[in-house]
Amino acid sequence: MIKSIITGTGHYVPENTVTNDDLAKVMDTNDEWIRERTGIEERRHLGRNSELSTSDLGVKAAEMAMKNAGLTAKDIDFIIFATLSPDYFFPGCGVLLQQKLGCDTIGALDVRNQCSGFIYALSTADAYIRSGIYKNILVVGAEDHSFGLDMTTRGRGVSVIFGDGAGAAVVSANEEEGRGIISTNMHSQGEYAEELAVLFPGTIYGWSDVLLEEDNQITADQIYPHMNGNFVFKQAVTRFPESIKEAFEKSGEKIEDLKLFIPHQANLRISQFVQRQMGLRDDQVFNNIQKYGNTTAASIPIALSEAVQQGRIQKGDLICMTAFGSGFTWGSVLMRW
Ligand SMILES: CC(C)(COP(=O)(O)OP(=O)(O)OC[C@H]1O[C@@H](n2cnc3c(N)ncnc32)[C@H](O)[C@@H]1OP(=O)(O)O)[C@@H](O)C(=O)NCCC(=O)NCCS
Repeated sequence: MIKSIITGTGHYVPENTVTNDDLAKVMDTNDEWIRERTGIEERRHLGRNSELSTSDLGVKAAEMAMKNAGLTAKDIDFIIFATLSPDYFFPGCGVLLQQKLGCDTIGALDVRNQCSGFIYALSTADAYIRSGIYKNILVVGAEDHSFGLDMTTRGRGVSVIFGDGAGAAVVSANEEEGRGIISTNMHSQGEYAEELAVLFPGTIYGWSDVLLEEDNQITADQIYPHMNGNFVFKQAVTRFPESIKEAFEKSGEKIEDLKLFIPHQANLRISQFVQRQMGLRDDQVFNNIQKYGNTTAASIPIALSEAVQQGRIQKGDLICMTAFGSGFTWGSVLMRW
């Protein structure tokens, strides 16, 4: 039976490190507040004047993933690109990756599921692989958040959390016993769409003509990311365990056998809460939010790539990846590496 395995992973983060103290120079915040509430010590920012864009970050991560898989751009049958910070409002970043990598005129799908973007993308890749349609799919999560964050005190509740970066995985067809994606689940609850969102431009609050009006009524809340932090936190700590349990129930695997849990790096406190709820040991959970902040669709593939580099994942290991975020959307992928 055909199953999906990950044959190569890669990641890239911008060189420019922004510490909590650096943020305190431009807004009313401090290292203690940020560390205590989020666990974040520093993050990477491309910055407003960078020549690179989100698709360029994706290219760098994808090149590493393809190299590690022993494949070239010509071997890739399909691209799935997840981001909430695309180069253009449209078209999406998938086609830019196709062109920049020099792939054939293969299909390129864009996923707009924010923090759950990589889980949705990986689940979709898995369905295409198991159906026999494609053999090698490049799945990328990349974000250039720093371009659109409100770097003033007004935006501090959101801006201190997010960082830039990209992660990628080559998902390939495999028939070897004891390996591959075992179960996936994806969920959404649109009634909370505006609890974590960028509202403008869009067809509800306004489009380009509104921007051009001299007396336009656009507010900072509409153009910058808006987050109801407390509410997001409460929902996340409920949905994470639900989704993990569902992944295990569908699979016949036992949570005691889990080698590594890779949560979306939303907030260290959320990950620690979920760890306690699930009864996992420290060595079973991967955290790198301290270094990168929340990189949204890039967070799980960056963590996955680092975990592989550190030798924390070996062939046949049971791995669970789970995300929750804007939409709200959430979901998991459970696999034997
Ligand atoms: C965002 C989050 C860290 C805020 O922590 P919190 O304990 O809920 O803090 P609050 O929002 O209640 O704010 C507490 C106070 O700190 C202030 N504050 C907010 N951001 C601040 C910052 N960066 N530095 C200093 N003070 C800050 C607030 O203005 C508020 O001040 P007040 O009491 O005088 O009104 C927390 O809600 C959280 O982690 N939520 C989940 C977010 C998340 O994971 N998002 C990604 C999901 S994918």
